[in-house]
Amino acid sequence: MELLEIAKKRHSVRKYTGKEIEQEKLDKILEAAHVAPTAANMQPVRLIVVKSKEGLEKVGKAANIYQAPAAIVVCANKTKAWKRPFDGKITTDIDASILTDHMMLEATELGLGSVWICYFNPDILKEELNLPENLEPVNILALGYSDEPDASAERHKDMRIGMDELVSYL
Ligand SMILES: Cc1cc2nc3c(=O)[nH]c(=O)nc-3n(C[C@H](O)[C@H](O)[C@H](O)COP(=O)(O)O)c2cc1C
Repeated sequence: MELLEIAKKRHSVRKYTGKEIEQEKLDKILEAAHVAPTAANMQPVRLIVVKSKEGLEKVGKAANIYQAPAAIVVCANKTKAWKRPFDGKITTDIDASILTDHMMLEATELGLGSVWICYFNPDILKEELNLPENLEPVNILALGYSDEPDASAERHKDMRIGMDELVSYL
C-alpha cells in the first residue's frame, strides 16, 4: 500500500478481537518506531510493550485501552531532550508522538487496528509501571485485530476541516 492509502485506511479502533498479535508483526511495529526521527537525534524515548494479562490490567487502571491485546506505552525522558535555545521549549512530546505515528501507520499496513490514547492518569500509570522519575508517559498506543467494520477511505471529507482551512500559502 502507498503511504497515503495507509493513512486514509487508518482509523481509531475501539473494539478488538481477542487474537494475539504475532511477535513478527510487533517487531516490525517497533522497528518503525526505531527509525523515527527525533530532534537533534537525541532519542529521549522509551517504549514499554505491554502484552501480559497482568500488564494490561495495570495499564487499564490508568486508561481505557478498549480491551486491546497489546498496548505500547511511549515514554519520554525530559532530562535527555533537545531544548530550543530561544524559548527553552523541549521537544519530548513531539519526539514521542512521531514514534507513535510511525507505529500506528505500520500497524495499519500489517492489518492491525490501533488507537492512540492520551486520556490516562499519568500518576497511576507511572506507579503501576514503576517508571523512574525521569520517564514521562506521553502516549499509549493500543493495538490488536479490529473487531469493527473498516472505515471508508473517503470519510475525511466530512471528518476533517477543509483543505482551504487547513492550508495557507505565503
Ligand atoms: C494526541 C491524540 C490523543 C488521543 N487520545 C485518545 C484517547 O485518549 N482515547 C481515545 O479513545 N481516542 C483518542 N484519540 C483518537 C482520536 O479521538 C481520533 O484519532 C480522532 O477522533 C480522529 O478519528 P480517527 O483516528 O478514526 O481518524 C487520540 C488521538 C490523538 C492524535
